[in-house]
Amino acid sequence: MDRDLHNKPFDSGTKAKLSIFHDYLKEWLPVFLAKKETYWHTINIFDFFSGPGIDTNGNKGTPLLILDELEVYLKEIQSKNIIINLYFNDYSADKIESLKSTLTTYENSFFNIKVESKDFKKAFKGQLQLMSKKDTANLLFLDQTGVKQIDENIFKSIIELKTTDFLFFISSSTIKRFKNHPAISAYHNINPDEIENTEYDQIHRLVTSYYRGLIPKTKSYYIAPFSLKKKAGLYGLIFGSGNPFGIEKFLRTCWKIDPLRGEANFDIDNDKINPGQIDLFTGEAQRPKKIEKFESELKNNILLKKITNDKELYLYTLNNGFIPTHTKKVIKELIKNNKIKKNNLNISYKVFKNNAIVTNIELN
Ligand SMILES: C[S@@+](CC[C@H](N)C(=O)[O-])C[C@H]1O[C@@H](n2cnc3c(N)ncnc32)[C@H](O)[C@@H]1O
Repeated sequence: MDRDLHNKPFDSGTKAKLSIFHDYLKEWLPVFLAKKETYWHTINIFDFFSGPGIDTNGNKGTPLLILDELEVYLKEIQSKNIIINLYFNDYSADKIESLKSTLTTYENSFFNIKVESKDFKKAFKGQLQLMSKKDTANLLFLDQTGVKQIDENIFKSIIELKTTDFLFFISSSTIKRFKNHPAISAYHNINPDEIENTEYDQIHRLVTSYYRGLIPKTKSYYIAPFSLKKKAGLYGLIFGSGNPFGIEKFLRTCWKIDPLRGEANFDIDNDKINPGQIDLFTGEAQRPKKIEKFESELKNNILLKKITNDKELYLYTLNNGFIPTHTKKVIKELIKNNKIKKNNLNISYKVFKNNAIVTNIELN
């Protein structure tokens, strides 16, 4: 079987993955390029598993999506003198030759483009110094084949970098299928019993929680998954950022693609919802279990004073994979039912800004 995704047109799962990456890029770039003030004078985008740039039908892969989106900001890049470093790597020399020839049509003097053909771990080591520089913002896209490249050491190096968001791809069903195979388990320390007890559809959630567990308890870091079912198995993206605004933007992208659960290109919780269908017992539109659970736990946490102000509300929302719209709805309901006072709660990133006022939730 031909497993190389560039020898055939991208399938729907690959297209979904690229569309998440593309949408996130659209959200990420303006934060660094379209603001009045310039805090970061250098922007680095690393595509460590770049492929040749297109599939056999001419659909654009990650390198060309990056270039297309940057074109939108040429004026800002020029007027603010922002340095843009782009790094593309793939260990296939043939793919890199194709990419180089495609890139000739894109050449402009606004970006520094470096293209290499190295094994990932060498490529990563080679770029570490650039990624670690002050006053730079990094976006890392790690579209690996399989499961072996983003191991514990690489993950821990990435989360130590300042102003760095990353998105990596992983074949989570491989971890389930080969849970006892040393060639796979050598790269991840996930308990085989836990893998065994996790349903196939949920496996990417377990893999994400393994990576979450690698973050030191003293560190504020945000991680979110998106599961992708393809013909060949269950894959997923894992996003990470040290900044709540970064994770909010990623989650917005996910909820746009999966309006029911914000987390998968399939019915991950087996809700079997037909959009618009009315529940026979409640007479209301059917709702995903994930949303019901979030709303009920959020209400309890507020009423039990486990969440006491808007900053905590904002973080609770993001850490549970939701966005402020979901929480605002719950708050509105609690106010309407006279459970809490109508204080001006600021459930947004603004509550994280310097000198922001944190507002307490007052129970009635
Ligand atoms: C899933 S594809 C990437 C697709 C690409 N992002 C795109 O949009 O077209 C994975 C790529 O990683 C390359 N690759 C696999 N193992 C690698 C390694 N150890 N180091 C560097 N590249 C590798 C493969 O040649 C393949 O092109």
